Amino acid sequence: MTISLNETPPITPPLWLLAEITYQCPLHCPYCSNPINMEETFNELPTEQWESVLTQAREMGAVQLGFSGGEPLLRKDLERLVAYARKLGFYTNLITSGIGMTEKRIAKLKAAGLDHIQLSFQAANAEANDLIGNKRHSFEQKMKIAKLVKKYDYPMVLNFCITAQNIHEIEEVMDLSTRLNADFVELATVQYYGWAYENRDHLLPTKDQLTQAERVINSYRDKQDGRGPKFIFVAPDYYEQRPKACMNGWGTTFLTVTPDGSALPCHSAKILPLTFPNVKQRSLHDIWHHDFSFNHFRGDSWMPSPCKTCDEKDKDFGGCRCQAYMLTGDMYKTDPVCSKSPDHHIMKSITDKAGTVGTGNLKYRQVERQIKVDVIDD
Ligand code: FES
Repeated sequence: MTISLNETPPITPPLWLLAEITYQCPLHCPYCSNPINMEETFNELPTEQWESVLTQAREMGAVQLGFSGGEPLLRKDLERLVAYARKLGFYTNLITSGIGMTEKRIAKLKAAGLDHIQLSFQAANAEANDLIGNKRHSFEQKMKIAKLVKKYDYPMVLNFCITAQNIHEIEEVMDLSTRLNADFVELATVQYYGWAYENRDHLLPTKDQLTQAERVINSYRDKQDGRGPKFIFVAPDYYEQRPKACMNGWGTTFLTVTPDGSALPCHSAKILPLTFPNVKQRSLHDIWHHDFSFNHFRGDSWMPSPCKTCDEKDKDFGGCRCQAYMLTGDMYKTDPVCSKSPDHHIMKSITDKAGTVGTGNLKYRQVERQIKVDVIDD
């Protein structure tokens, strides 16, 4: 048996900074990974504070920066933040629904030095897309933005959230991606956090649906003969025997800063019974190196059995802490996805229910006040 994970591993720099600059969003997707409790929505960090966060993260060694949300385009200072980040030497990614983008804006973002745009779609046709996002004309807008992404010489990177609602249309999704001349397409089965966890029983595809989707994807790839988009299929870990190495290990690689300045080791960590620090009060360096919450699940001293003595613990780090907490009520437990977990039976009881509760009655993401954004422009 090889156990190579140290009890107190050295603290490595956060290579990836996810800047959730706003939780405001014109869409209402029922699988949004934002927290259910949106009290932070209207208490956003000002521009200068974000600039300070970016400077500090870069000084610590971060190289990849994701501007995310909510919908980051709703921040009027996005171009300024992109330019600032680019000057610091970040590789900048915009993770967007495209709603609120215009040709004028994409030109400004290009001039500011934005490196990469990832555009999300809810489905391959207007009816399903607008229904899932609960927003009229959103498909039309996304099609327009997809063309602008190419026109402004960005690699076309699309993300489709795959659920029980659209998994049977996977070939249509792949055809649309090919027509749009996409370079990379993530066919990402929803991960069950935030609003997606609330709607899990309606969203989770059955094992048979996943097998069929995989078959369709593989036969499509065969027909591509090396041409067209590169499709990446991400299946839900609920049907797996081993958990995912969430965040590449807690507090090793990823740092998320939320709209109100909370610093988190993952986007969902606030659900855990831990207190998380805020960049308004402390430096990022102090938070990353010394905060109780960041150190809490580093290494393996926190691990329960069977993780502690498992020869795969340095591959998956005991799985996802948020998932363990949501599914068992105990954040210290082995992720129940693992077949060695004493709680693995929970996964079977959930997956057995897939396909039996219907795909309607979804709880749409809501915030107290709604945001008005022009969908179609110039
Ligand atoms: Fe929080 Fe996995 S999402 S640890």
